[in-house]
Amino acid sequence: MPDFPAGFRWGVSTSAYQIEGATTVDGRGPSIWDTFAHEPGRIVDGSTGDEACDHYHRHAEDTALLAGLGVSAYRFSVAWPRVQPTGAGPAHAAGLDFYDRLVDGLLAAGVDPVATLFHWDLPQALEDAGGWLNRDTAARFAEYADLTAARLGDRVKLWITLNEPFIHMSLGHGIGTHAPGRMLLFDAFPVAHHQLLGHGLAVAALRARTASPVAIANNYSPVRQVGDTDADRAAAQAYDALHNLLFTDPLLGRGYPDAPGLDPAVIHDGDLDVLAAPIDVLGVNYYNPTGIRAPEEGSPLPFEMVPLDGYPRTAFDWPVAPDGLRELLLQLHDRYGDALPPVQVTESGCAYDDVPDAQGRVDDPDRIAYLDGHVRAVHEAITAGVPVTGYFVWSLLDNWEWAEGFTKRFGLVHVDYPTQRRTPKSSYAWFRDLVRR
Ligand code: BGC
Repeated sequence: MPDFPAGFRWGVSTSAYQIEGATTVDGRGPSIWDTFAHEPGRIVDGSTGDEACDHYHRHAEDTALLAGLGVSAYRFSVAWPRVQPTGAGPAHAAGLDFYDRLVDGLLAAGVDPVATLFHWDLPQALEDAGGWLNRDTAARFAEYADLTAARLGDRVKLWITLNEPFIHMSLGHGIGTHAPGRMLLFDAFPVAHHQLLGHGLAVAALRARTASPVAIANNYSPVRQVGDTDADRAAAQAYDALHNLLFTDPLLGRGYPDAPGLDPAVIHDGDLDVLAAPIDVLGVNYYNPTGIRAPEEGSPLPFEMVPLDGYPRTAFDWPVAPDGLRELLLQLHDRYGDALPPVQVTESGCAYDDVPDAQGRVDDPDRIAYLDGHVRAVHEAITAGVPVTGYFVWSLLDNWEWAEGFTKRFGLVHVDYPTQRRTPKSSYAWFRDLVRR
């Protein structure tokens, strides 16, 4: 493995609803994911995040795993319904106490706390008032950011406002496979704009409370056009605009791109200035490229997704394509030039069906190969001049993988859910050695 620049940040990521459990403990309110997971038929194995990895009660053990890994940073998310159980009103002290303990434990272990404010677990009460379709949710989000930073702002080393607003819009509100389960297709655009408005307002709220850098974590997927007709080209452009440009162009001062569904009536005077509040870091979450071709006649979508041939595949059936990470980092650099802030890869990882052997060891060579390829791709991008300053593996632990329930394992650490026993996999040792070097 080639050398990385001094000070490069190595970390791992998780999110609240996927690991914490304890969903009714210490006054936490319900979120849209509690509601959704409890609806029959939503989650493939019928599970919920009620217990997940029980991290709420086992955070000290999990912090020890981070210390053993030697990472310099840990990216977790704060559950909004712990801080404001009904999405409004004063901070709920008992909810913030948990993150206070977590952050202090991380600092004592020499690990920088990196906090994401919204990883999809909207308080249910806000959803009942329209959720992200309602412009007021953006203001509520900034208030929650202020309350959280008032308590943790002196110790969190990097703030991330939103996690993957594209995925929350498209899966949660476009096709309904994620909470809150709405199927609005392109009428979901207000969810994009209101999340981005909330991001901009939250940046201002955070700046007033902390000197730590502020970021957003976007999901990116380089588009591989399948077919060579004008219609295929138009389809690839439409998908690229939606997935890769819609949530980045306005943040970096270019306004909205020409993307399907964009409704100017949702954008009020002055909003674009709020959205373009400078950020210090762009978080990049990358899993795989997307194959796109022209849709069949009569399709409600202006593109069709097609599986990409010729790649190894993860247990999610996603193509393993490290070159896609290099490509997208170079694309960001080309498109935004000097307007691109330093980039940190805030999620990169893969699901495999890791099973303990007779001795209880979990050997996951496919994950090691995956991570090795993606870390090398980051290095190539740095060599080509892209300012990449960090890389976080998704994820520390096997955890509750949204609509896939417990069926997809992304962890460097295996979790036996009935006993909550944690077993570091061979990829944990591999990443530890990489970080040490
Ligand atoms: C999300 C994670 C998720 C991962 C794997 C990302 O889109 O931020 O919460 O577990 O992908 O699907």
